Amino acid sequence: DMGGHDTYMHKEIHEQADAVDRVLRGRIDDRFSTVHLGGLNLDAREARQIRRVKILGCGTSYHAGMIGAQMIEELARIPADAEPASEFRYRNAVVDPDTLYIAVSQSGETYDVLAAVQELKRKGARVLGVVNVVGSAIARESDGGIYVHAGPEVCVVSTKCFTNTTVAFALLALHLGRTRDLSVADGKRIIAGLRRLPEQINEILKAEDEIKELAQEFADARSMLFIGRVRGYPVAREASLKLKEVSYIHAEAYPASELKHGPLALIEPALPTVAIVPDDDLLEKNRAALEEIKARSGKILAVAHQEQEKADRTVVVPKNEDELDPILMGIPLQLLAYHTALALGRDIDKPRNLAKSVTVE
Ligand code: F6R
Repeated sequence: DMGGHDTYMHKEIHEQADAVDRVLRGRIDDRFSTVHLGGLNLDAREARQIRRVKILGCGTSYHAGMIGAQMIEELARIPADAEPASEFRYRNAVVDPDTLYIAVSQSGETYDVLAAVQELKRKGARVLGVVNVVGSAIARESDGGIYVHAGPEVCVVSTKCFTNTTVAFALLALHLGRTRDLSVADGKRIIAGLRRLPEQINEILKAEDEIKELAQEFADARSMLFIGRVRGYPVAREASLKLKEVSYIHAEAYPASELKHGPLALIEPALPTVAIVPDDDLLEKNRAALEEIKARSGKILAVAHQEQEKADRTVVVPKNEDELDPILMGIPLQLLAYHTALALGRDIDKPRNLAKSVTVE
């Protein structure tokens, strides 16, 4: 049942405020400015002994993991990174007893992720799952974890589950942070930010008509560049994947800082750039990147917290706490991918060559 929407993708994009409500529900502890994660299976002493966090997933879940790694590093000050599960399992990685491994998967059935989990368990590692489908293989094989409660996701490409997974990581980062050295004041600040998310998501979705108009402009592009820096980079990665999957337009994501090391050579009017420009301590650096693109007559769409003078168009998104901004900044770009695909007459819920869960090698 699509509930009045033409596609599941559209329906699922519009379900995100409710979905985020669900992942937060019953988990916030105002008394200690932290969150309770019932299924984590990690006591405080164990949480304090973690020396590293390694997050594994594929596709969109990998991108959510990149955002999660940044949140854990920022809020809990534990070195953290994300890696595609498939790469990890084939490179005979060193398995370290002081590392917390986290497997991320919407379906909980992706074979590359499951195989990585099994290999890690075989070597005695502790593995948590950040999973949407309750009782799925990855959820069962993990030592504990967090359900992301996005609800059923039918469209082959992931939208609401991505958003909820990033929120689940914010909860985990806050929990680990408050078990270690994050202050009460910062805990309160993050909790207040989390509570603002559903309303801010609805605010973003109200700009749909404006984004639909932009999509008409971009539908004839042969290729697009997505750039972001630090918090904006995984957002750019995910937005680029979403556009590719549903519109079949070639897209490439780059850290904004890498522009001058190569991709600047591609800039010309026919290659539009989408730039993620959060209002954080890197704002001026990002503005400089826009200037470099403008100087080469590149067309720019900025997703930012305030109008960007160097951009041809800006989609303004509501500001949250710096650490939580990535949760929101990709949402307008889900709509951009959707409306671009719609303008091109693509089979949005079932893109060619793709399956919802990849249970083979
Ligand atoms: C992208 C997409 C895929 C999946 C990937 C992992 O929109 O849907 O990239 O994210 O196949 O799937 P899960 O999360 O089920 O492990």
